[in-house]
Amino acid sequence: MNLLAIIGGTGLGSLKNLEITRHQVVNTPFGEPSGPLSFGTLGGCEVVFFARHGYSHRIPPHEINYRANMWALKEVGVIQIISVAAVGGITPRMGPAVLAVPDQIIDYTHGRAHTYFEGELESVTHIDFTHPYSEVVRRALMSSAREAGVAIEDGGTYGCTQGPRLETIAEIRRMERDGCDLVGMTGMPEAALARELGLEYAHLAVIANWAAGKNGDEEISMGEIDRTLREGMRKVRSILQHLLAHRTDSTPIA
Ligand code: HPA
Repeated sequence: MNLLAIIGGTGLGSLKNLEITRHQVVNTPFGEPSGPLSFGTLGGCEVVFFARHGYSHRIPPHEINYRANMWALKEVGVIQIISVAAVGGITPRMGPAVLAVPDQIIDYTHGRAHTYFEGELESVTHIDFTHPYSEVVRRALMSSAREAGVAIEDGGTYGCTQGPRLETIAEIRRMERDGCDLVGMTGMPEAALARELGLEYAHLAVIANWAAGKNGDEEISMGEIDRTLREGMRKVRSILQHLLAHRTDSTPIA
């Protein structure tokens, strides 16, 4: 199986145009994933979908069982993953409703189960993470966006915070000094676990709001985030539709 998985984040709890054929509960050595996996067809191509926060959006970023989620995808034959996530924008090109395909990560999370390589190991393993995202999946996202006529930012550094609270102005200033363009709460350890399992993984980030302090002194409004995400997710669906039109069930995107 050469399955493609789409992980839906905040604002993408389901894929409207996914024709679901079955659900599968997968048990893993690391516990339960966020929910059953949904198998279905999108643009005529078989895909697996699941909602990172659970189908009723009840699991906060720091309590997601990332290890179980990625393990379950590998178990059912997934080889490539598009991870959709809502983020805050830090640098000027990353304003609300912009879409981006980041190419770097800084991890500010703590206390999350972040590796499969622990416990009774035969040897210590260090994965290469120089380029944290799959360039093949990134390119496919960029060219599908172009075809769909959706403007998208190529590259950028995703800073992953612990959440569930949003950041302070000083925290965002520090992240900007570090070189972060985007801030989110779920990109790690998801991306690193995908690499540990040998899965090709890329992020499709939807900017929901200006990060703290990037819109003057104004506080971040959840109502505005929801409205911006609705617009952003329409663009995401269009990109995915174009991307899958190029794929058959047996060929990975290349
Ligand atoms: N910070 C962190 N995560 C987010 C934000 C933010 O401003 N917006 C959407 N997800």
